[in-house]
Amino acid sequence: MKGLPQQEYQNPGAVQFGNFINYYQFNSAEQRLGLLSKKHWNIKIYAVDLDPDLIKRAQADNNCDIDIEFACLDVMAVKDFTKIQDYLDKYKRKKFDAVCCFSITMWIHLNHDDTGLQEFLRNLCSLSELLVVEAQPWRCYQTAERRMKKVNNSFPLFLKLKWRSNVVEEIEKYLTNTLQRTKVYESLPTKWKRKICFFK
Ligand SMILES: C[S@@+](CC[C@H](N)C(=O)[O-])C[C@H]1O[C@@H](n2cnc3c(N)ncnc32)[C@H](O)[C@@H]1O
Repeated sequence: MKGLPQQEYQNPGAVQFGNFINYYQFNSAEQRLGLLSKKHWNIKIYAVDLDPDLIKRAQADNNCDIDIEFACLDVMAVKDFTKIQDYLDKYKRKKFDAVCCFSITMWIHLNHDDTGLQEFLRNLCSLSELLVVEAQPWRCYQTAERRMKKVNNSFPLFLKLKWRSNVVEEIEKYLTNTLQRTKVYESLPTKWKRKICFFK
């Protein structure tokens, strides 16, 4: 972490969008991949994230031979969301075979409220045959808020959220009851105690 600004060096967990500089030291990608059912896997990947530095690093570190296109975009911004549509159009597809949301629901929720998270889930369902979700449970929200407080900041929507202690169940209920998805797979918990669910 040489060369990082002082605050990131001392408090790498105090971030607004979950864009931790040291994330994979704790939540390794291999841990997740080992738990996933390979028969649902696709070979063209569109990898998106809000943070330009993380996208640059992912591009530089990528050494797998799968066709991956990286894009820095905010999935909550209409103008950026249309870029996802453009990617599909390029391959003459209406939907992705699978869309993966690993550890992102909480950041959308904390920054865009319950309605923003619902909109996020709705949009992703409209773009995917299979939606893969690893949602953060409430304890993660409390940790994120605590870390922000340590640097005299906070998530202004934190106290206002209606989906709270049972947020993972609320997300699942919304996907199945409102968006008519069916849960077809639930993994064992990752080392960081989150399950990965597949919704068709
Ligand atoms: C905790 S990290 C998870 C990273 C990765 N998905 C994983 O699990 O390996 C959360 C990521 O969500 C990204 N993020 C937060 N809000 C976003 C948004 N509105 N659009 C795109 N990415 C977003 C952050 O930049 C951060 O990299």
